[in-house]
Amino acid sequence: MGYALGARVSGVDLSRPLDTDTVQQIKSAWTRHLVLVFPEQHLDPETLIAFTRHFGELDNYETQPFNRHPEHDEVMLLSNRPVNGKLPAGAYNGQNWHTDLSYTPRPAKATLVYCIQKPSVGGDTMFASMYAAYEALSPKMQAFLDDLEGVNDVSLISARRDPAILEAFKRLNPPVIHPAVRIHPESGKPALYVNDRVRTFVGMSDAESKPIIKFLCEHSQQPRFVYRHRWSVRDLVLWDNRCLTHLAVGDYDPSEIRHMIRTSTMGDYFGRFENPRSAETANTSAAATSTEVAQAASMLHD
Ligand SMILES: [Fe+2]
Repeated sequence: MGYALGARVSGVDLSRPLDTDTVQQIKSAWTRHLVLVFPEQHLDPETLIAFTRHFGELDNYETQPFNRHPEHDEVMLLSNRPVNGKLPAGAYNGQNWHTDLSYTPRPAKATLVYCIQKPSVGGDTMFASMYAAYEALSPKMQAFLDDLEGVNDVSLISARRDPAILEAFKRLNPPVIHPAVRIHPESGKPALYVNDRVRTFVGMSDAESKPIIKFLCEHSQQPRFVYRHRWSVRDLVLWDNRCLTHLAVGDYDPSEIRHMIRTSTMGDYFGRFENPRSAETANTSAAATSTEVAQAASMLHD
């Protein structure tokens, strides 16, 4: 569907159990094309969860409990459809370039989004190949980046976030360090892992880091590395967070509804906290405390 990435998959009904051969073909197409679009699917939370299991262990979103589906912890709502007259916390998520859950020690592997309702104009999602972005850098810059680690900071998540929710997010997710370049476990290829949510580089001052981060973000967001998905209702889109960044385009009329459901699987990669003591208090996806989650969620209803 794009020069750098993206493929459309037809002739498969994801609401039904799939045979091993079909799953294998989908996985192999996914590794090759990074974003797969399955049009005209008829999914609900249960069937979306069932299909997601083919791509690993489901995240139950303990690191961001605000946006969960009321009946399924593994399903996140990406929706501006008001609930009890209030805008949901996840209404305008993801409107800067990012890779899902990079602000946790165990970022997402696969993300799957199913479109239920879309605005009449706009609300696309853009994806950038971080393989292609890395490959296009000079060998000197690549070698420099290979040794760097970025501090991924949840406070950079979005400019349109409710301040109370952002505070809860920060409390649940202290800054996390990941390498600036990741080797994809399946393709074996290097991918840039720097995006709008990287605050600084370890061992460098902010003044030194910021121009490099700015350059890498602008570099990787060039149209030649990007596929822009124009949603249709009943599209299921599957993408790989280990070698892509993406952005939800905030270019639609906010009085029109954009309603999608999302699942993701846990990556096999582990980062570490910027402040090692954070590990004792942080609500990591592996060690969420129900009290913290309940307190954070209750802020929504104040
Ligand atoms: Fe996202």
